Amino acid sequence: MYRIKTILSLAAAAALVAACAQPSPQDRLTANDKKIDAVIAQMTLEEKVEMLHSKTNMSSAGVERLGIADMHYADGPFGIREEGVPNGFQSAGWQLDSATYFPTGSALAATWSEELAYQYGTGMGIEARLRGKDVILGPAVNIQRLPVGGRTYEYLSEDPILSAALSLNYTKGVQDKGTAVCIKHFAVNNQETNRGSVDAQVDERTLREIYLKPFERAVVEGGAMSVMPAYNKVNGEYCSENEHLLNVILRGEWGFKGMTVSDWGGTHSTMGAMLHGLNVQMTGDNYLGKPVIDSIATGALTEELVNEKVREILRVRFAVQPVPEDVANTKMTSQPECQQIAKAVAEKAIVLLKNEGAVLPLQAGVKKIAVIGQNAVLKTQSGGMGAGVKALYEVTPLEGIRKRAGAGVEVLYAPGYKNYPGRRWGPPTASKDPYEASAIDEPADPALLAEAVKLAAEADVVIFFGGTNKNIETEGSDRKNIDLPTGQNEVVKALYAANKNLVTVLISGGPTDLRELEPVSPAIVQGWWNGTEGGTALAEVLFGDIAPSGKLPFTFPAKLEDSPAFALGNFPDKTQGGDLFTLMFREDVLKMSAEERQALIDAMPKPTSKYTEGPLVGYRWFDTKEIKPMYAFGHGLSYVTFGYGAMTASASADAVRVSFDLTNQGQMAADEVVQLYVARPGATVEWPAKELKAFARVSLQGGETKTVTLEIPVKDLRYWNVDTHAWDLEHGRLQLLLGAASDDIRQQAEVNI
Ligand code: BGC
Repeated sequence: MYRIKTILSLAAAAALVAACAQPSPQDRLTANDKKIDAVIAQMTLEEKVEMLHSKTNMSSAGVERLGIADMHYADGPFGIREEGVPNGFQSAGWQLDSATYFPTGSALAATWSEELAYQYGTGMGIEARLRGKDVILGPAVNIQRLPVGGRTYEYLSEDPILSAALSLNYTKGVQDKGTAVCIKHFAVNNQETNRGSVDAQVDERTLREIYLKPFERAVVEGGAMSVMPAYNKVNGEYCSENEHLLNVILRGEWGFKGMTVSDWGGTHSTMGAMLHGLNVQMTGDNYLGKPVIDSIATGALTEELVNEKVREILRVRFAVQPVPEDVANTKMTSQPECQQIAKAVAEKAIVLLKNEGAVLPLQAGVKKIAVIGQNAVLKTQSGGMGAGVKALYEVTPLEGIRKRAGAGVEVLYAPGYKNYPGRRWGPPTASKDPYEASAIDEPADPALLAEAVKLAAEADVVIFFGGTNKNIETEGSDRKNIDLPTGQNEVVKALYAANKNLVTVLISGGPTDLRELEPVSPAIVQGWWNGTEGGTALAEVLFGDIAPSGKLPFTFPAKLEDSPAFALGNFPDKTQGGDLFTLMFREDVLKMSAEERQALIDAMPKPTSKYTEGPLVGYRWFDTKEIKPMYAFGHGLSYVTFGYGAMTASASADAVRVSFDLTNQGQMAADEVVQLYVARPGATVEWPAKELKAFARVSLQGGETKTVTLEIPVKDLRYWNVDTHAWDLEHGRLQLLLGAASDDIRQQAEVNI
């Protein structure tokens, strides 16, 4: 044991020396520091402070006099957002700003592909440049803690290793194309309920091992140039003025050299923001405008601190070339090469959850297909607030199926159920659209149901499109539950009674409750909000042109109450009326003085979110507590089967490695995502039952075998020691569990670390 420890510490020292000698990805930002200091020396205090807050809704100021261009921001994360008017989000009515709509976060994560995440980033980067944008407000990489989370669709996964690998590669892809990322929302932004004021109370080990990982890799290994502090508080402090997050961890431990940009409306004070790590207030200047100048006059703040902040902003400005005004926006934003990337991601994202009796792929003899459900025709590019995209085009599932089916196959369509248009602001108005439901739990409409059943009865196969929509899963609110809306369960049961040859395709960003649907659906596909070419990719999978190969990036619980935050009563919090965020939009509040507003804020309830489940997020909880989910994390079937050969394993000072042969036992080309989990028998430190530590997407021709090697860096096996406040390695037995899903382990081995 002593020897191993010695080797490890020597190895750690050698790694440290090597790391010191080599420039880190963040050092790219300091390359121009001399020039930057010369610029700062010429700036007036007023010019400097102008850089610390918004200039328009999507820009912050440069210094024209000194040839420093303004910084232009764009949402993110699934396509460059349509141009808005200077002081709001309303459309500017441009013609050339239609972008490529990339599959949303959970769809990207379902590919489990670092390579595709990189390409996705390059696609976003290319289109950002065409629009003259310097910073993409993305990727959005928070851990999916709640199945009901309004932004689950934006975020990647419930697992930190998967999220971090994708967040790193997305970041590299964007920045290699000359645009900065603004990785968001830092940190522990896992709910929309009371998002403007909720205090996420999370212990330090869980924070480090789970919630910070996707940010850490993007910053440390990817050189992320900017970071967006979240709306919420973490352990008592707002993220935009959180000393521990911004100064101690981000800048101190991770060596971040760039700028932080508050979420829109997420800055809360002058002193807090100035002293605890914020660079740019978005939007407004009530905190980082004149009050900064006044505070310097009184001696409460120093100009040196302002210089530091300006230096960090200018580092990004110097690292990202501004796009000349006469070059930007001269071409359509959406480019064919980016549309192809969106298609490649969509093809690998689709998850085959169930396929009994091989209903899929659709048989060659199929002559009449009944497509049922509004989600087959609803476009998913816009809505869901900030992450909506004005797409150049979007192939819906019905269009994709019709095109692929060709002339010889009849494709019938019926809406089946009403569409829930979401929570409306202001007094309720009667909808004129006969297909719109007035309540999310409105039962099935008898006329729509009868029409759908009639089509189902006369078709060879029924494809039912269920799931949610972007009014149900959206930024700004969480779902009340994960039930399928507007009578969908009733519809699918009636369809199955009419025709047993039935496939369900779920169009949603997050999980849904499938307890009623599953018994009446021989085949189930998770189709996501899958981007501009989503319908094309789906048809390719349904017709068997390609084998499905996506794997779930989160657990589908059987019922909501099984999931950790609900089981422990941690969510929802009973405190009502604490949503500070809505104050931004209240006319009466906007007219108040700073003192009046502060008094109002102080008197408001203080909602909290307790993370007592600790690291047992997602499958870590289900496995440890032995609760069977509907579909497990990592689950996803193919049209072929894969053989996992015997695994060999070894451990060295820097990594644990496993090797095995993987065989495609079918006839057609297919990809498998192999997953390596670890368990720690006999550990003294508390661990979840098992944790993902490595994975790979492997492409194989029919009948082909490849030797696959997976590597776990030893540093990824460490835990955060709350006594020493440092990363620590527990030596001892490590069980290696290799499989096709978290509940489908095929090979096991053990090593000592
Ligand atoms: C969202 C951010 C987004 C920003 C600008 C905020 O409401 O939380 O993700 O980037 O708006 O649109």
